[in-house]
Amino acid sequence: MGLGQKTFYASYGISSEKVNRVEKDRVNSNTLTLEHQRLIMIGGKGGVGKTTTAAAIALWLSRHGGKILILSSDPAPSLSDIFETPLKDIPTPIPMIPGLFGMEISSREVLRRWKECFGPEIYEVISSFARVDYDFVDYIGSAPGIEEEYLLNYIMELVQSGSYDRVVWDTAPAGHTLRLLQLPGIFLEHLEAATKFYMNLYSTFDKLKASAKLQKGKRTLLQIISGWRELSQRVIELIQDKRNVAVLVVTIPEALGVKQTERILAEFDESNLQVNALIVNNVIERADCDFHQHRQSMQRRYWRVIKEVYEHRFPILTVPLSANEIKGLSQIEMFAQLLFERGSIW
Ligand SMILES: Nc1ncnc2c1ncn2[C@@H]1O[C@H](COP(=O)(O)OP(=O)(O)O)[C@@H](O)[C@H]1O
Ligand SMILES: [Mg+2]
Repeated sequence: MGLGQKTFYASYGISSEKVNRVEKDRVNSNTLTLEHQRLIMIGGKGGVGKTTTAAAIALWLSRHGGKILILSSDPAPSLSDIFETPLKDIPTPIPMIPGLFGMEISSREVLRRWKECFGPEIYEVISSFARVDYDFVDYIGSAPGIEEEYLLNYIMELVQSGSYDRVVWDTAPAGHTLRLLQLPGIFLEHLEAATKFYMNLYSTFDKLKASAKLQKGKRTLLQIISGWRELSQRVIELIQDKRNVAVLVVTIPEALGVKQTERILAEFDESNLQVNALIVNNVIERADCDFHQHRQSMQRRYWRVIKEVYEHRFPILTVPLSANEIKGLSQIEMFAQLLFERGSIW
């Protein structure tokens, strides 16, 4: 190993001795195995093949029986393109694949549902001590965290509804999904603090003091907020339960892929989400020209880094770079076979 290579691995905190050990263990015949988790979450940065992986998993699962829902919460979803069928905000059957349904959730729809579910309750309590229009509910809905909070809630509702045997979730690129796991709670704390503040303020005026309390028999705003908090806690516990949820992270063997994966995994750890497998996509298996040989040796260096850092934590699989883009059923099927049957050859 040359000095340049040593420096390369050292920059990832890996000794050359370790790299040699990994190098000997080139053949990795891992295939993807999923247990019986009801929700399969696919994370990773944009452009690494998340949607393709989610589509392949959903197709594979539906081919093996059961009713499967694939959903995307990416603000720029591409499920419709990959399945070559228009998908909407509601589960829609995917033609030619019995048992497979797809949906693309927009933030507008999430907020609409949130408003439908909580709007009247919020309006009722707030209007009891402050003069506000119903539009105020929209204002609350625009608070940071609301959308993420309710998206999680909504997805867990779909999972628990029993309408589908399994739900495959093509998450939004990294930042969004992570925010989603960290924000719930923050918003509620703000709302609670603000409510206490206003209630104190109003209670200094005798007349308003009476109206700050809700009619008899009704819950106070603080009770309602604490109800939301419990709901949000339940959703977080469900998503952290390994028996319910499988978490797959997709990456590519390139500098940006390695860096982003490091960040995503650290944040998943922080959110107590346990990763079931790491999928390294776009690997060049056969290099029959200078260009590809060069790229392949670059990829192998990152592959070794990935392997050294993560192989003791979860299985690492590879999927080769195809000459074609992955679009339409037969391509998705091929991708699924690589993942579930052939396994990695690196
Ligand atoms: N193994 C692969 N070989 C060739 N093309 C791929 C492979 N995986 C993904 N692609 C292509 O790369 C592009 C991005 O993939 P996509 O799944 O949409 O990424 P993401 O959802 O992470 O943004 C798509 O055009 C897809 O067809
Ligand atoms: Mg995508």
